[in-house]
Amino acid sequence: MTVMQRKSVAALQSEAEETEEALQEHGGHALTRSLTALDVTMLGIGCIIGAGIFVLTGHAAATNAGPAITISFVLGAIVCALAGLCYAEMASTVPVSGSAYTYAYATMGELIAWLIGWDLILEYAVGATTVAIGWSGYVVSFLHSLGIDIPEQFAKAPFAYEPGHGWSHAGAILNVPAMVIVGLITLLLVTGIRESARVNSVIVVIKVLIVLAFIAAGIAYVDKANWVTAQNPTGAFLPPNTGESGVFGMSGVLRGAAVVFFAYIGFDSVSCVAQETRNPRRDMPIGLLGSLTICTILYVLVSYVLTGIVPYDKLNVSDPIAVGVDAIGMRWLSPIVKLGAIFGLTSVILVLLLSQPRIFYSMAKDGLLPPFASKIHPRFHTPYITTIFTGVIVMILAGTLPIGLVGELVSIGTLFAFTVVSIGVLVLRITQPNLERAFKTPAVFIVAPVGALSSLFLMSGLPADTWIRLVIWMAIGVVIYFVYGIRHSRLRKQRES
Ligand code: ALA
Repeated sequence: MTVMQRKSVAALQSEAEETEEALQEHGGHALTRSLTALDVTMLGIGCIIGAGIFVLTGHAAATNAGPAITISFVLGAIVCALAGLCYAEMASTVPVSGSAYTYAYATMGELIAWLIGWDLILEYAVGATTVAIGWSGYVVSFLHSLGIDIPEQFAKAPFAYEPGHGWSHAGAILNVPAMVIVGLITLLLVTGIRESARVNSVIVVIKVLIVLAFIAAGIAYVDKANWVTAQNPTGAFLPPNTGESGVFGMSGVLRGAAVVFFAYIGFDSVSCVAQETRNPRRDMPIGLLGSLTICTILYVLVSYVLTGIVPYDKLNVSDPIAVGVDAIGMRWLSPIVKLGAIFGLTSVILVLLLSQPRIFYSMAKDGLLPPFASKIHPRFHTPYITTIFTGVIVMILAGTLPIGLVGELVSIGTLFAFTVVSIGVLVLRITQPNLERAFKTPAVFIVAPVGALSSLFLMSGLPADTWIRLVIWMAIGVVIYFVYGIRHSRLRKQRES
């Protein structure tokens, strides 16, 4: 059946080895191989440290896990590490752009690949939308502290949405700052991947330094007395469950893990630039697992310090880290932390907006999207058509949608992709055991199934309306595939000719 047809991994491997000159001889322009292992690790960190740690940590500590949010971070890291090991094997075996989409094409056939590509729009384009809205909130608050006020009707979406409470009028017109940052980053991305990677690296250094400064400043002030709250009078590390599932206790730690999972999203974006790295077989595993390891260590330390210096019931704010530095009397550090968060969120948007067009590019090269989408700019060597297209769509979404609507959709979409990649790695081990693999997932027959199940487990913790949105989104994807993709598939045409 056409929808089941798979790409041969050998063909994908030789596609990855095509040189720039060879591609240009065929009248095309190629992506350039300019990124090093350090660059891709920086890209991973650039995409990981963002709204999750700077905003959601406080919310999850205050409402789900208390000081045990540290455990939620460890659980989130385990789920990501299992998926990360599978991504690393796939990215070193099939080192072409397109991430989970390409891996699914090689293992589970065209329809599943298309659906994963479609699903990744939730992670990358909707993810960039979410973080751009968060960016706008931080910038408005930072400017306010400098005495500059952006009128509210130009700093928010026209409608508000609270999960479980539905829609309401926000009385605003457009979220202009969110649109402006997306527009500026799109311009940068069109001009070149090296330039974009350089800007990203500078930002990563700044934000990691700020996170380290917070840990260093706060660690001496950690005091178990801060674990005591009205809800947790004995000051237990794991506050007692309130009777409601997901509100403290063990179930709270699990719900907390689903919430802070957002903080890890992005390490997999490294796999989208496989075709632009010098030695993808080596650089991909380093970038994926290196960035994940560094961020896990930072996250566990930040959450331990934060809940040790501020009682967790005071952390349900939009700038919990700034509240933390205020609590230890270092008020001068507070605006620096805010500025660091703004920088941090900027690079997350940058890497997400860099990843999405590369997936569209791969899909267009395969004939599943119209051919113009695979055009590479003759001078900048970037997939400029899809970059601009993505930028415009994300600008519109970020200007008009509320953050409550988009955040969980990003998590569910990403977890779905993790599940498919984990299954895919197993399928490829069984169907093609002798394939050359630069990186092999250790204990794959345990790691891959447990990885898939743990991702499904976190998905099961997300609310029903998020699931319904995922199903509707995927149904639209199926329709588009049968109306367009199946007829234009390059693989199908090759097989028929
Ligand atoms: N991990 C990214 C963030 O926390 C998406 O902003």
